[in-house]
Amino acid sequence: MMRKTTSCIAALLLLISKKVLAGESEFEELLQKMENDVLELAHEAEQTYQDRCLPETLDSCYDNNYEECMSEYPDASCPGGIELRIPACGDGTDKCGGLFDYTISTTRIPEELTSGHDRNPENYRVRETVCYTRGLDEWFIQKHSEDLRFWEDLGVESPSKMYGARDGIFRIYPGRHSRTCGEYDARKRPWYISATSGPKNIVLVLDTSGSMSSYRKLDLLKIAASQIVSTLTVADRVAIVQFSKDAQVHGGQDNRMLTATKENKDFLLKKIKGMEAKGETNFEAAFNSAFETLENSISDELHVDCNTAILFLTDGKMTTPVHITTADILKLVTDGVDRVEKRTDHPVLLFTYSVSEDEDNVLHDLPQKLACSTKYGVWSKIVDEDKLVESLTNYYVLFAVGLGHSSNEDFVAWVEPYKFYTNDQLGTTASAPVYDRTVHPHILIGVAGYTFSIAAFDEALGVPNESQETLDKIVRRSTARCPNLEFSLCQMESFRKHGTFGEESLCFPNNCTDYVEIEPGECPSASDFPYDVWNNGNFKDRSYEVSPR
Ligand SMILES: *[C@@H]1O[C@H](CO)[C@@H](O)[C@H](O)[C@H]1NC(C)=O
Repeated sequence: MMRKTTSCIAALLLLISKKVLAGESEFEELLQKMENDVLELAHEAEQTYQDRCLPETLDSCYDNNYEECMSEYPDASCPGGIELRIPACGDGTDKCGGLFDYTISTTRIPEELTSGHDRNPENYRVRETVCYTRGLDEWFIQKHSEDLRFWEDLGVESPSKMYGARDGIFRIYPGRHSRTCGEYDARKRPWYISATSGPKNIVLVLDTSGSMSSYRKLDLLKIAASQIVSTLTVADRVAIVQFSKDAQVHGGQDNRMLTATKENKDFLLKKIKGMEAKGETNFEAAFNSAFETLENSISDELHVDCNTAILFLTDGKMTTPVHITTADILKLVTDGVDRVEKRTDHPVLLFTYSVSEDEDNVLHDLPQKLACSTKYGVWSKIVDEDKLVESLTNYYVLFAVGLGHSSNEDFVAWVEPYKFYTNDQLGTTASAPVYDRTVHPHILIGVAGYTFSIAAFDEALGVPNESQETLDKIVRRSTARCPNLEFSLCQMESFRKHGTFGEESLCFPNNCTDYVEIEPGECPSASDFPYDVWNNGNFKDRSYEVSPR
């Protein structure tokens, strides 16, 4: 009853607003609604998380979740609305086996987490996450029915609602099967990374000297760098400095940063792919190029007016030029960081990585000193090459710690409009980080997302489908807000300690007495969580395209 009344009022308001407002403000309103809705979902996820250890959560979880490829769904139907039309459904009027289910959400789980029988997760924490996120279904369903009229009036399908948890479990509503099982990992998607890091300038400074060719170092470096570039959005500016004997900048004309559009990311991915390891190691050229690129971009306003990250990776000692000392490099870098911070009025986060199977090698020394001589520097020592990709791609976690600050509450990120997987329609996602706000500092537990067809925005603006105007507005929205990043000494030390080398990475081992948690903890009852979390395995051998029986 209540719901009905609210939706009537909402419909009435919409009717009035439609008359009074021109397309422009209706568009703003729509963006605002998306932001409010995704924040509501984020808030809901925070609540649900608080109930994760209750026996009820555990009881209702057993055998009750629908997996992306295993499970048959209870009430699946062909998707309506042109933007959801997919080939398996013909023109939408043919009988089809049912590809969307509005009564449930679907769980996607990365392959490496499905080590139990029938694709069940074995890890306690992961099972706990499957269980607590199930609590979102009620909200998904209610929100969908509440807003049905709103989206219908706009002539579009309502947005898909998503939640990506920090440990890899992902839920999407309405439920649907996946074409490929176990492939989707929300943590490697732009909507996840942008919600946890905000708009940023990012410069990768990568060592491609001869020694990088040993073991699999260069290959792993390429995987890590590609993943970082792929997860950037139009809100980000990026350049890559590749160095050995000299430095070479991959970016825009005359060594400027590039906006991380799809086109520019593809360009950089190609450059990464083509990297070869040879020659000497010249840190001076590397950092000179990095700061030049940053500062040139600032002068030309080709940067984003927000935070900056520099990721510096090396596997070797400086070998050239001969006269250069450690002190020279330290000064070059601390001065550079200072200048960029002053000119942008935002902090620079400096991540240094030394990769070497030799633990005591003197080559770890300078990267550590570099990190510790800047306020927000973090050094990672990578002795085991297998840790390289994880170490590098985890840079965003420090941003996420900063975004947890209460001054950043209500932060929402927008990603560049991209083509939907199911059909060829353009869509975009608004996303918001989700924290455990009962602990201080807040701990990131996941990201909420609302995915939406661009057709709806065009409709609202009264412009032709896929117009540049709509795209431009979304891009502008994506950089409209810069999260405030501030870390206490203990937060920085805790983050450093959290890395692959623990206490060895601390910069001031005697200054912090109160380390803070960076990662969420487990329920005391986590080991009681049900082993069989999937509802059924009836869909196991059926393909996505021919779902009808
Ligand atoms: C760490 O503690 C020492 C000794 O109390 C002090 O001199 C130094 O300034 C502190 N460093 C930082 C970064 O707070």
